[in-house]
Amino acid sequence: MTHATLSRVDQQKQRAAEYAVSLIESGMKVGLGTGSTARFAVAALGARVKNEGLKVKAVPTSEATRVQAESEGIQVVSFDTVDTLDLCFDGADEADPGLNLTKGGGGALLREKVVAFSSARFYCVVDEGKLVDKLFAFPLPVEVIPFAAKVVERELRKLGAEPLLRLREGKPLVTDNGLWILDCRFPPIDDPPMLAKALSSIPGIAEHGLFCGMVHEMIVGTDTGTRVIGRP
Ligand code: 5RP
Repeated sequence: MTHATLSRVDQQKQRAAEYAVSLIESGMKVGLGTGSTARFAVAALGARVKNEGLKVKAVPTSEATRVQAESEGIQVVSFDTVDTLDLCFDGADEADPGLNLTKGGGGALLREKVVAFSSARFYCVVDEGKLVDKLFAFPLPVEVIPFAAKVVERELRKLGAEPLLRLREGKPLVTDNGLWILDCRFPPIDDPPMLAKALSSIPGIAEHGLFCGMVHEMIVGTDTGTRVIGRP
């Protein structure tokens, strides 16, 4: 889609996405994020594969992204055939000034975190509206093993959260990993790394959507171009 036919926010997303994709070089192993911003990036990568003959091996973070990548002619490989990735790009639901992120609005947080963890460089691509003073407004997604959902809910409440099971058509939404998601409304998060540690210590949580200390650079799409924010 051309810039002109997109909403202002989508134009910002597309600018950030295209900038991230411009950093990809032939021969790289690349992690592909999930969500509407990542979707722009996958389309831009597909265009480079077609137009420039760029050769990459791509690991998608969701089935939705895998389907799009394959339809764009990008070579998709299974994660267990690659050791580490050169870079990955992915969106975020919120980002604070310390480059801590809330992710998982699209339900792909577990694979997104594993892929970001395995990448030498993680470029987070966002529109300006994602930048906040404190992570808060977007409920924090927590992916849970269904067997443990009640126990996890109780423990999350002890941490100050109001958890809500994510539903689709009246039934629990099942992730690509066969798990459920609890969307957790917390008070403004003063210390994301500390909360991340507390969440990781609860048995039954497969992964949570707080990404701390993982971003290499934040690429923010603006009305006129992009702004790059490095690690603080
Ligand atoms: C999916 C994610 C996305 O990156 C996040 O929800 C942002 O999505 P979008 O780019 O559509 O705003 O974490 O699990």
